[in-house]
Amino acid sequence: MDIEKLISEMTLEEKASLLSGDDFWHTKAVERLGIPRTMMSDGPHGLRKQAEGGDHLGINDSIKAVCFPAASASAASFDRDVLRQIGEGVGDACQHENLSVILGPAVNIKRSPLCGRNFEYFSEDPYLAGELASALIKGVQSRNIGTSIKHFAANSQEHRRMSSDSVVDERTLREIYLPAFEKAVKEAKPWTVMCSYNKLNGEYASQNPWLLTEVLRKEWGFEGYVMSDWGAVSDRVKGVAAGLDLEMPASGGSNDERIVKAVKNGELSEEAVNESVRRILSIVDRYEKNRKPDTPWDMEAQHELAAKLAAQCMVLLKNEDNVLPIAAGEKVAVIGKFARVPRYQGGGSSHINSFRVESLMDALAGNENITYAQGYDIITEEPDEALIAEAAELAAKADKAVIVAGLPDSFESEGYDRTHMRMPACQTALIERVARANPNTIVVLYNGSPVELPWIDCVKGLVEGYLGGQAVGKATRMVLWGEENPSGRLPETFPMQLEDNPSYLSYGGEGNTAIYTEGVFVGYRYYDKKKMNVRFPFGYGLSYTTFACSNLVLGKEAVRDTETLTVSVDVENTGKTAGREVVQLYVAPAPCDVFRPVRELKGVEKVYLAPGEKKTVTFTLDKRAFAYWHQGLHDWFVKTGAYGIQIGKDSRSILLEKTVQVEGTTEEPAQTVTVDTIFMDLVKNAQAMKALEPLMSQVMGSLGAGEPEGTAASEAISDEMSNAMMQYMPLRGIVSFSGGAISFDQLQEMLKGINQK
Ligand code: BGC
Repeated sequence: MDIEKLISEMTLEEKASLLSGDDFWHTKAVERLGIPRTMMSDGPHGLRKQAEGGDHLGINDSIKAVCFPAASASAASFDRDVLRQIGEGVGDACQHENLSVILGPAVNIKRSPLCGRNFEYFSEDPYLAGELASALIKGVQSRNIGTSIKHFAANSQEHRRMSSDSVVDERTLREIYLPAFEKAVKEAKPWTVMCSYNKLNGEYASQNPWLLTEVLRKEWGFEGYVMSDWGAVSDRVKGVAAGLDLEMPASGGSNDERIVKAVKNGELSEEAVNESVRRILSIVDRYEKNRKPDTPWDMEAQHELAAKLAAQCMVLLKNEDNVLPIAAGEKVAVIGKFARVPRYQGGGSSHINSFRVESLMDALAGNENITYAQGYDIITEEPDEALIAEAAELAAKADKAVIVAGLPDSFESEGYDRTHMRMPACQTALIERVARANPNTIVVLYNGSPVELPWIDCVKGLVEGYLGGQAVGKATRMVLWGEENPSGRLPETFPMQLEDNPSYLSYGGEGNTAIYTEGVFVGYRYYDKKKMNVRFPFGYGLSYTTFACSNLVLGKEAVRDTETLTVSVDVENTGKTAGREVVQLYVAPAPCDVFRPVRELKGVEKVYLAPGEKKTVTFTLDKRAFAYWHQGLHDWFVKTGAYGIQIGKDSRSILLEKTVQVEGTTEEPAQTVTVDTIFMDLVKNAQAMKALEPLMSQVMGSLGAGEPEGTAASEAISDEMSNAMMQYMPLRGIVSFSGGAISFDQLQEMLKGINQK
């Protein structure tokens, strides 16, 4: 495609028409010039290709496809390779189905366990979310299919999702809500970005020039096109000017007309329209040039892949007395509706029409040591005494009881938030009764987001399966019976109760205003700082084997923030079973003037180890591993000091630690000195100190410093006290306390001189 030639040949009306969808899923064609329309589809853990009757809510049927683990589950793999493989599978399917772009990954931060779409999101931690999203994008795009990283940005609630205004301070945005997008845009280069429904600090994301142009394009170098979330456009003309290229799905032509009108009356430049056309066509062209419709889509093979990957995502949370794995000959009572009809994906636009679903009971077919009872229903929350009694009776006769429980669809979905963190009462009652009937009770959870676990002490085993995709049953069998050694880790903290969550007091917002009051203290950054008791910490997960980490080596003892630091550590499988360990690297910041978390995740590697095998894992840390966002500089800033390099089992269990001295090379901006500047803050300004010191000592004297010991004056005020008082004294105090040594006007003159230099 000669895009410049096409632009020059197009009428303004044709150009404007290209800036909105043809229907729910297509970009527009311009037949006269041979520009084809291209199709996109929801996902991203599979295809939701709707042939007819498109909708963005997952209502109408789409083609049969393969449903891989949803993001909540795949994030628990802590494994870029798992995400890459899902991406490749989805990319192949897109080529086969003539889809140019898959709408995902969704990388919004899990601010609260209540967000209805948490099952589609990766983590409470931006580093992890960014790494995993990048891997998925690379996987899909290796097949020459585009991705649309979404929902840009600060879209962490469903409540009032199309009107709420996320009010987030600059530092919190940069440190928590933007980095996953930033990482993916810079490293994996998604073909497209989808802006979110919400406003960000007062302006809709769909018409926010700071977000779509300043940050995304100018700072991060994004080159693809930005599309709106479905129906996210408010003022289309403002949107084009801000950098929103494609409106989806369509406005029936009315917004295209507004664009034409705005160009004609000089409100919008034609060049802005050309630029959007250019971006959209370059992606259309890229897809067209690389089409491979004869790519095979082997759904059976992908089902097996989905099972294998889902097994690597499951998190073993409790394994008292090594109740797991279950041995071959043991009699097992499998209990729970989800064991027959699993919940394996979430509701809404990411809902996939799976060509096959394999439940745990399907996966156990032919095993004569298995009995089954339903235990609960998902239609009602009310405990069903008959179902519970039947399950308890069955459990009593078995060696072990496995209860498959979790959240029914109605409890969490796109479009609304949860109102509490509890499981249905019927399941809680069932678990308690079965656990009394059989001491070897194991619970498997299928849910998209953390739940409260009041019954945890009654059961010996707990596996968090999240929403594991269509082959979740097989994956569950593999983990429970030890065909796969569990290696998932929690990508989010499980608090004891909802009220412990840092956003609890302000989540959802007041009216349309959602103030992100907890700032950077999201997830473990909050719980760890507070030393709060949590049910399971971020990064937690057990294994059927044991691992040991040793020999933490830092490439240098001291680095400048312009250099990189290499860190290596040995990890060994010290048990008898092969398995995967997740090595987590946290950085503990040096003391500084802003509030910082105790530690932050800055490196993750997953390694497979045979029994007795030892491998060295290496990380490379750069400036960003140490920096915080400086609101005065409007940039990343490293405070010079000693930083802890910590290797953790999870965010709470640090196994090894060493210290590196990091020298920050950026100077903090000099503060203007005013009469209200306090002495303490003068310390950073050598020149002002020098000029004002003589006057300061006079003030010190008047405050009682240096009185001879034993006198009444020295008893009334010690030197420490007067020093402390001096620290917080504004410079105008010199006028009040120096006994007329300087007047207010003279002080102001002096400061003028200091500020000019
Ligand atoms: C969702 C998006 C989705 C789009 C298209 C919207 O409601 O927020 O995630 O891609 O619909 O279905």
